Amino acid sequence: MTTSSQNKFVLVTGGAGYIGSHTVVELLNKDYNVVVVDNVSATSQDTIHRIEKITNKKFPFFPWDILDGPALRDIFNQFDIGSVIHFAALKGVGESGQIPLAYYHNNITGTINLLQVMKEFNVKNIVFSSSATVYGEPPIIPIPETCPTASGPTNTYGRTKLFVEHIIRDLCTAEQDWNAALLRYFNPAGAHPSGMLGENPSGVPNNLMPYLAQVAVGKREELCIFGDDYKSKDGTAIRDYIHIVDLSIGHLAALEKLNENPGCIEYNLGTGQGTTVLEMVSAFSKAVGRDLPYKICPRRAGDVTNLTADPRKANKELNWKAELTLDDMCQSLWKWQTNVANGVV
Ligand SMILES: NC(=O)c1ccc[n+]([C@@H]2O[C@H](COP(=O)([O-])OP(=O)(O)OC[C@H]3O[C@@H](n4cnc5c(N)ncnc54)[C@H](O)[C@@H]3O)[C@@H](O)[C@H]2O)c1
Repeated sequence: MTTSSQNKFVLVTGGAGYIGSHTVVELLNKDYNVVVVDNVSATSQDTIHRIEKITNKKFPFFPWDILDGPALRDIFNQFDIGSVIHFAALKGVGESGQIPLAYYHNNITGTINLLQVMKEFNVKNIVFSSSATVYGEPPIIPIPETCPTASGPTNTYGRTKLFVEHIIRDLCTAEQDWNAALLRYFNPAGAHPSGMLGENPSGVPNNLMPYLAQVAVGKREELCIFGDDYKSKDGTAIRDYIHIVDLSIGHLAALEKLNENPGCIEYNLGTGQGTTVLEMVSAFSKAVGRDLPYKICPRRAGDVTNLTADPRKANKELNWKAELTLDDMCQSLWKWQTNVANGVV
């Protein structure tokens, strides 16, 4: 880690969200100066207090919107920002099809607004939260970064990610002093080992693991497995689950990489291990200590068969590798879910 990167502030947008909050913990643990902006549309301000409790550190937090240019400028005026990790976005795949304009406005206009303010303040290093959804139904498994994205994502949310990738890439091509790491996450899962941070969706969870956790505490009756006729060993869809702490550490590695002035670079953050839905249900049931109820439902529109990363580029160039196991994901998630359900956090 270089000292220059630590003296300046890292602005974390969406830093009170699921992945953002875990990344802020890792940044603070490594003595980075951190400032967070999050409009708390999908989280609560309490997350900030829990980050402070875990790290025993305080940091500036602004409950503001990245669409608000003057508010962003205020933050850039107050702090000597050297780089930005940009998480802030809406992320509901199903919801994105129902309210596409809200998704394009928040995720794309919000990012353009942020990039404009960064440019004004000569801050030209950005780590962007992209997604494996940019690969659509990929022709190559495991998926390398060179896999074409031309056939495109199968939903509006994924398109916001792909379009922002193009915007950032175009910016780096036009102005060569920009550096960007486009991080394509596979399936983040699990929670902080303290049990104090995790994913806590407000409505019906979109993703398997938070849904399963809510079934386990009796908040939902049973899990609906969308499709058992995929080409996999048990017919259920295959995903590459990555522990949230491993994923968060990947952001620090990407941030460091930007110090080498690489221009615009893409990395898959995944483990390279594919797991079916039924295998994940079994692993989580083991952590909970009993079988969890599920039923097979029709396939969900937009879901693809297999999203498993080839993570070798990130392993090599970022000197980063996912280390934690499915059991680690399941146990930490269960600890978090029981804490939340019991009102401990
Ligand atoms: N969780 C996943 O499965 C996954 C997978 C791939 C990519 N991603 C991307 O990673 C990023 C973080 O995801 P997450 O799972 O932590 O989601 P999250 O919803 O927990 O976090 C996003 C945060 O951004 C904030 N936010 C949203 N719009 C904002 C705005 N206009 N201004 C300020 N704050 C705003 C929300 O309040 C929230 O706290 C997102 O960009 C998401 O699209 C997530």
